[in-house]
Amino acid sequence: MISVQNVSKFFGPIKALQNITFEIKRGEVVGFLGPNGAGKTTMMRLITGFFPPSEGQVLIDGKDLCKSKSEIRRKIGYLPENNPLYRDMTAKDFLSYVAQLKGISFRTQKTAIQKTAEQCGVESVFNRLVGKLSKGYQQRLGLAQALLGDPELLILDEPTNGLDPKQIVEMRNLIQLLRHERTILLSTHILSEVQMTCERVLILNEGKMAADLELKSIEASLEDIFLKVVNKEVELCQK
Ligand SMILES: Nc1ncnc2c1ncn2[C@@H]1O[C@H](COP(=O)(O)OP(=O)(O)O)[C@@H](O)[C@H]1O
Ligand SMILES: [Mg+2]
Repeated sequence: MISVQNVSKFFGPIKALQNITFEIKRGEVVGFLGPNGAGKTTMMRLITGFFPPSEGQVLIDGKDLCKSKSEIRRKIGYLPENNPLYRDMTAKDFLSYVAQLKGISFRTQKTAIQKTAEQCGVESVFNRLVGKLSKGYQQRLGLAQALLGDPELLILDEPTNGLDPKQIVEMRNLIQLLRHERTILLSTHILSEVQMTCERVLILNEGKMAADLELKSIEASLEDIFLKVVNKEVELCQK
């Protein structure tokens, strides 16, 4: 589903990502783990076509993102970091607006909005202003907009960031429900997050891929591995 080949991204002198290569198969739920500044958001922006790589290429379903953007975009649902929402719109108007941006036909819009709103549990706040919603509902709404159009691939950048413990559990449960039909890549700097949600983890550190691990095959605790990788006590990249 996703093939990242020798990808680097530079912002002037800053090497945000250096020579990253990995593949994600259809149906996998993969966590991007790394400390702040590791390059997680940059990698997700490359995968969603927000900007092109400085070197290398990103293929989605075998197609180069830079060459056939709009066709591929429809396959991707994206919840960006910090979940930017239009705070002065009602939740319903916001979803209608996103549906139009995504080119969902007027005829099917209502059903599409209803479906994702039900999935994410935001129907009860349809007529409320987005800016007045709790952080938990705002995050659900962010997920609902990502799900509009029924994309095969979900890219979620720190989906539980800023939520309280109850909201975190609700968001995790929601992600669990969505996983059966989709490929999901989510980023986090919290270890327990990947352990609870993902079957595979890619660890990024200082713009480099430090590890690619199937969680079920890990005998040592992920915490030990993570600390060693971040402290550069080990160089591992295995799967
Ligand atoms: N648009 C940008 N311009 C300049 N530097 C950036 C930009 N986006 C990210 N960076 C830098 O790239 C590095 C990786 O950032 P980021 O991808 O946001 O990491 P993470 O999401 O893992 O916290 C950081 O050093 C950050 O300051
Ligand atoms: Mg980030």
